[in-house]
Amino acid sequence: MPNSTKAYISELRNHVGQQVTLAGWLYQARSSGKIQFLIVRDGTGLCQCVVEKGKVPDELFEKLRHLGQESSLTITGTIRADQRSVGGYELVVTDAQIISPAEGYPITPKSHGVDFLLKHRHLHLRSQRQWCIGKIRHTVIDAIRRFFNDNGFILIDTPIFTTIVGEDQQSLFEVDYFGSPLHLTQTGQLYLESAAMSFGKVYCFGPTFRAEKSKTRRHLTEFWMVEPELAFIDLDGLLELAEDFVSFITTQVLQNNKSQLETLGADIEALERTKPPFYRVTYTEAVEILTGQKTADFLSEQLSQLKDQKQQLESRIASLEEEQKGQIKQWKRDKNAVELIELRVEIDEVSTKIENNPKHAKLAAEFQWGKDLGGSDETIISQMHDKPVFVTHYPKEAKAFYMKTDRDNEKVVLNFDLLAPAGFGEIIGGSVREDDYDRLVTRIREQGLNVETYNWYLDLRKYGSVPHGGFGLGVERTVAWLTGEKHIRQCIPFPRMMDKVYI
Ligand code: 4AD
Repeated sequence: MPNSTKAYISELRNHVGQQVTLAGWLYQARSSGKIQFLIVRDGTGLCQCVVEKGKVPDELFEKLRHLGQESSLTITGTIRADQRSVGGYELVVTDAQIISPAEGYPITPKSHGVDFLLKHRHLHLRSQRQWCIGKIRHTVIDAIRRFFNDNGFILIDTPIFTTIVGEDQQSLFEVDYFGSPLHLTQTGQLYLESAAMSFGKVYCFGPTFRAEKSKTRRHLTEFWMVEPELAFIDLDGLLELAEDFVSFITTQVLQNNKSQLETLGADIEALERTKPPFYRVTYTEAVEILTGQKTADFLSEQLSQLKDQKQQLESRIASLEEEQKGQIKQWKRDKNAVELIELRVEIDEVSTKIENNPKHAKLAAEFQWGKDLGGSDETIISQMHDKPVFVTHYPKEAKAFYMKTDRDNEKVVLNFDLLAPAGFGEIIGGSVREDDYDRLVTRIREQGLNVETYNWYLDLRKYGSVPHGGFGLGVERTVAWLTGEKHIRQCIPFPRMMDKVYI
């Protein structure tokens, strides 16, 4: 093609006034007789391409008019800046080549149910929402590696097949390993502790498996976790590291993905507030918050807001349904139909919250010291904070065997969970590790675990034991919090859940 440069949509600002060729897929099309607006995506962004009758051969004009969604093509034309256009630039088409026409693409611009989209995840990844989330996930993972690599941590790849129980016995995935039972890793932490005694500061980053029989919006059976581990560190040191780390990730996403955050409707102001110091409360204080009057008032105020919201949604639905009965243009009818689907999803969510509110309020009011915080308890505490909040010093009985007991209060351990704000809940769990040989043996026995299998782990307490600790951050939960996505299944390309592995 003479005088035409191949260009990516993300670089169009450098090509204003020039003739370029884009290679991509037809995302959406709109036509009004003599003019067609084709939205093309090329993996780097979206660009509106304007095809005017008379400016391209009639045969091409007709071909483009009948081109199906997701057909692949190259498209050539002149770039002009246009603030109203998606991405801010427009291509005035002079030529196009269809690479592979697509017909009957199953995901149309209309709304689809969650199940349908999960079954079509291989195609749904092309949607604007999934694209935005994927770009943000990429930044999060890049920021994770950068933070640790630039701060003197050594990457240690820990095994996926393992003989030891890292967290709890209930959520193990058993594997037949040449006739012997093994399981998939729940955490790389125990191996990392060994590496920390060699390198000082280490991290592992990989897929993690939990056979958790919970179908909540926060649980996957396969998720990605990054775990740093440091020799010679105490709880305060860990909290400082965690807040610097989470702030770094947030800053990177704000710097690199502002437009994706906007498209997703994320709360950018809240992310900008994510700067050290984060809030710090002990578990005992958290229990006081849960059982206190302030929380009861907060939840009852929330209930009345939800009821108002439901009423507003109902009246909007009623007025749209009324409009649909009358004589309106087809485009308006289609637009209303899409809005109705979305409003019904929203009203279902609000109704569930209205139903759950009194149950969660009761659970909170009756919370007994000693239990682990449940999902709804975490939600309440994090809803009451506008920045991430550390909850520290949990009861020993509620936590894993490897956590160090607080020598000033043997009922609790030196651990923390980091709860993301605005109701999102836990994104990090971490602790100082028990470094005393005899105490660790006792804890392993108390939890009904086989001491033999931990011999190598116990060796670390025999040969130059030192205070040490670390934490684990779940990638999907972090991405869900940053993007405002309600369910973490949207934050991994191919999610695995308890009852569903779609593709
Ligand atoms: O709190 P957890 O279980 O901590 C550990 O695994 C420690 N060994 C980490 C350490 O100290 N090195 O899990 C850490 C994080 C959670 O805060 C959460 O973000 C994520 O991993 N996570 C899950 N994410 C998705 N689905 C699940 N089923 C998850 N379970 C934990």
